[in-house]
Amino acid sequence: MRWLYTAAGLLLGPNIIVHSRPNTVQRVTPRVLIVSLFDPEADVWYENLPKSGLGDLLAMNISVPGLSPLFPAVHCTAEGTICQVTTGESEINAATTVNSVVLSGMFDLRKTYFLIAGIAGVNPKHGTLGSVAIAKYAVQVALQHELDAREMPPNWTTGYFSYGTFRPGQYPTILYGTEVFEVNEALRDAAYGYASKVRLEDSADARAYRKRYAAGGPSYAMATRPPSVIKCDSATSDVYYSGHLMSETFENVTRLLTNGSATYCVTAQEENAILEVLVRLDIWGLVDYGRAIIMRTGSNFDRPAPGVDVLDNLRAAEQNGITLATTNLYLAGVSIVRGILSEWDGVFQKGIAAPNYLGDIFGTLGGQPDFGPNGVDGAGL
Ligand SMILES: *[C@@H]1O[C@H](CO)[C@@H](O)[C@H](O)[C@H]1NC(C)=O
Ligand SMILES: *[C@@H]1O[C@H](CO)[C@@H](O)[C@H](O)[C@H]1NC(C)=O
Ligand SMILES: *[C@@H]1O[C@H](CO)[C@@H](O)[C@H](O)[C@H]1NC(C)=O
Ligand SMILES: *[C@@H]1O[C@H](CO)[C@@H](O)[C@H](O)[C@H]1NC(C)=O
Repeated sequence: MRWLYTAAGLLLGPNIIVHSRPNTVQRVTPRVLIVSLFDPEADVWYENLPKSGLGDLLAMNISVPGLSPLFPAVHCTAEGTICQVTTGESEINAATTVNSVVLSGMFDLRKTYFLIAGIAGVNPKHGTLGSVAIAKYAVQVALQHELDAREMPPNWTTGYFSYGTFRPGQYPTILYGTEVFEVNEALRDAAYGYASKVRLEDSADARAYRKRYAAGGPSYAMATRPPSVIKCDSATSDVYYSGHLMSETFENVTRLLTNGSATYCVTAQEENAILEVLVRLDIWGLVDYGRAIIMRTGSNFDRPAPGVDVLDNLRAAEQNGITLATTNLYLAGVSIVRGILSEWDGVFQKGIAAPNYLGDIFGTLGGQPDFGPNGVDGAGL
């Protein structure tokens, strides 16, 4: 590994390789790896973690071949107990970065907790700006056929329909394997417990914007309340969709693909990519898939309030959710990190047994998924 590291150093140059101990290359063994997707989600950790007493993530920068040129290093505290990497946004960036980190050989990640910590679109039926969602399922909702709505059959409600089917709402007959992931429910509940201990921030701007959802009646009640920690699930799509019909389409897809088990409440661009990497590398004993945590905070609503234009909701309206979402991302996230570290010896080192199915729709890690077609083989059909 020394050679690889040196080679990377020569390739990338001295400005990128910065290491607190440049002459000793050892495998770093983080207890938590925070996975950020873009700058604002990373910056809150760099700015605030030193004040928490848990360390400075910029104490050790480790360049890794295959990371995004925009985010070329893994950042760790001085002892390497907590590390953080920024993948770049969307599925390709997310998978490439996490795969590169694990396969670099520079880290021992067998007991590491992966905290996917990002901002997201939020469903007003389940949360609001600044809400912290901790998920059990991630669903790749846009992995489908699509007809433009202007050309679809007149009695369809959406242009999306599953691979191998003939109309919306039918269960796919062809599977790629990345459609649905289920993570450790006991760990999810532990993370929820830690996150729930913190007082989340709220803001006057967010309060003003979320008030508009009161006109939507009881189904939007959560949208009008102050942010809280919620247990519900995450949609993955490279397409940054918005609006009532798109969001409802993917609510329906989430229900269909998980046989009614998952509740769509946040929407983002990376989960399924990262979880696929963790499944594949768990098979090789390089990571423990049972140590993945999915946390998303609401930065914008996935659909407008009554009377608000769909494009305005996406592009013009001042939802003012990003700062609130990154603040609460840090507050909830650092509480989870602190919880894992403080109970490391008794609980987290050996790992929390999952009471539920773990893994993908193929049953790759063993066991029978509680979603998916019974007895499908890898080729689908
Ligand atoms: C790590 O990189 C950051 C910039 O990303 C820099 O501010 C910091 O000083 C670097 N740390 C070390 C130990 O060189
Ligand atoms: C639409 O109409 C066709 C033809 O009558 C029918 O087969 C189908 O079930 C209807 N619904 C949808 C969602 O395609
Ligand atoms: C979602 O499913 C419901 C119930 O089947 C249906 O009434 C609704 O039209 C669907 N929404 C979209 C956008 O397809
Ligand atoms: C999920 O729903 C599909 C379509 O109805 C069905 O074929 C499949 O057996 C269900 N899977 C489970 C695990 O219940």
